[in-house]
Amino acid sequence: MKNIKVRCPATVANLVCGFDILGMALNEPCDIMQLKLLSEPKVVIRNKDEFNLPTDPEKNVAGVVLLSIMEKMNNTIGFEVEIEKHIKPGSGIGSSAASAAGAAVAANYLLGNIFSSDEVVQFAMNGEKLASGVKHADNIAPCILGGVSLIRSIHPLDIIAIPSPDLYVTVVHPQIEVRTSDARQILRKQVLLKDAIRQWGNIAGLVTGFLKNDHSLIGRSLEDVIIEPVRSILIPGFNEIKTNCKEAGALGGGISGSGPSIFMLSSSEKAAKATEQVMKEVYDRTGIAYNTYVTTINKKGVEIVSDE
Ligand code: HSE
Repeated sequence: MKNIKVRCPATVANLVCGFDILGMALNEPCDIMQLKLLSEPKVVIRNKDEFNLPTDPEKNVAGVVLLSIMEKMNNTIGFEVEIEKHIKPGSGIGSSAASAAGAAVAANYLLGNIFSSDEVVQFAMNGEKLASGVKHADNIAPCILGGVSLIRSIHPLDIIAIPSPDLYVTVVHPQIEVRTSDARQILRKQVLLKDAIRQWGNIAGLVTGFLKNDHSLIGRSLEDVIIEPVRSILIPGFNEIKTNCKEAGALGGGISGSGPSIFMLSSSEKAAKATEQVMKEVYDRTGIAYNTYVTTINKKGVEIVSDE
């Protein structure tokens, strides 16, 4: 039986102003998954990391994705999966999406790529539903496709790949827990028209900035007047990090997905490293443990590493 190994990238959802509709993939960190086809209808999960994630397929993000594919195949096959996570669960950089997308892409590959890319995204969204209670694709789509994705619509699925400039990304992950479901629960259900106008100006500006490789426009458009004012309260040091990173040369940034990670985009590696320094200084002062990454935008998405 074939054994396939895939590399699944971390992702930044929302890209500040595009709540649930924009996301991008990162080159670091990434998970490694190995998948094998079984002739019996069952899903066997083995975790090769210290996170103690559930091995019951119904409770595991990759597990529910594989169960949904198994069902689509009329329960004629099963899967064995080994998961080595490097993207910490609950970090806000698409840990659940990496497991879900990796499982869906690898299973499709083993089945001879019988499902379209939209179908693979649909399968993977079952994992997000388990993790956060909602089927959102702003981590899943860029994780599978790489680069920057625009999710114009979920029903019907309409995903557009946006050409992404060669920007540097700095991420800080303070080791505090912010559950996506909680971070969604606290959001206001209604927005003021004046805020909506500002927000859609920023979304259009950000997408145009990516298309035209206009870094200044990208920086100006990284503003969120709807979600960030509510969610940033959950992240100690958020405002200081944002202000100081921009002073250090970052174009701009904000909460990665539902947090607690914060990301910043920069035009150069030098600015990205200066940004990392600022993030370290702020979190060293708060005493909160943290990780940082200086990376670039991943253009490949889930990648087949080996196929034996
Ligand atoms: N768009 C989702 C949210 C991403 O912000 O809740 C969660 O990673």
